[in-house]
Amino acid sequence: MENTFGISIIGAGRVGWHLAQGLSAAGHPINEIWSRRHSQAQELAERLPAARVVHTLDFSQSPSRLFLLTAADAALEELVRHLILPTGALLAHTSGSQPLDILKKTAGHTGVFYPLQTFSKEKPVDFTQITICLEAADYASMQLLDAAARALGAQPLPMSTQQRRQLHLAAVFASNFSNHLLRIAHELLQQSQLPAALLDPLIRETLEKALSLGPAAAQTGPALRGDAPVMEQHLRQLFGEPAWLELYRLLSADIQKWKKP
Ligand SMILES: NC(=O)c1ccc[n+]([C@@H]2O[C@H](COP(=O)([O-])OP(=O)(O)OC[C@H]3O[C@@H](n4cnc5c(N)ncnc54)[C@H](OP(=O)(O)O)[C@@H]3O)[C@@H](O)[C@H]2O)c1
Repeated sequence: MENTFGISIIGAGRVGWHLAQGLSAAGHPINEIWSRRHSQAQELAERLPAARVVHTLDFSQSPSRLFLLTAADAALEELVRHLILPTGALLAHTSGSQPLDILKKTAGHTGVFYPLQTFSKEKPVDFTQITICLEAADYASMQLLDAAARALGAQPLPMSTQQRRQLHLAAVFASNFSNHLLRIAHELLQQSQLPAALLDPLIRETLEKALSLGPAAAQTGPALRGDAPVMEQHLRQLFGEPAWLELYRLLSADIQKWKKP
């Protein structure tokens, strides 16, 4: 396999933004960027030496070998229907939840390149700390995806669609739900004119302890202790926030159910 290969990006959202810049820095030319909003494609192209913005999904004349479909999950099927790729090209999506099969309407090779990380444009990404979950319909495609992951300095990990879906579900609990709970915690402090930063050492210690001891050993709090008066007090404090009250009840009940031998 050649050391560098051309890549095109379809969807200049959070993931496309970081993958394009990471792969370009690793020596792979990003040839074309297509995005529904051209301004987004243009903003990304300006950060890359060789990229041009394209306004069509007809890539038949493209020099790229790898096409990364980094658009929203709900848009994948529709985009695949309109894509025209050069002969022999590989099309890979970056979704944790969508099957490899969703790409099957394309004439070329297909794969999945799912980076297990949370991406925001404002925050630089250290790919050396990231596992990229791979799936491919054939050996040569797997080799190409493996090379792209390694070029980023990431750890490639082949897995099935079913395993990736389970990992994605776990990631939603570990990252998205945890982050949502942190946001609620910030709002609770705001309601009493307390600074959000008060919680920073607690948040850091919680994550460090979950990583070093494991979350099962690290759990503390009134639900684990079965401290009913404190929990009733908390529910009274949440009287004006019915959704948070419901979350508190559900999470506490689940901790208590899990704690029972
Ligand atoms: N963000 C993460 O942390 C993360 C991590 C791992 C994997 N992923 C996966 O990576 C993929 C991209 O996620 P993302 O977070 O980068 O998404 P995003 O930031 O929300 O960007 C989504 C992109 O898809 C485009 N899009 C949305 N609906 C479309 C449609 N109907 N037709 C054409 N384009 C459409 C958007 O265009 P506009 O700019 O015009 O709206 C945008 O370019 C998804 O499969 C996601 O599951 C995300």
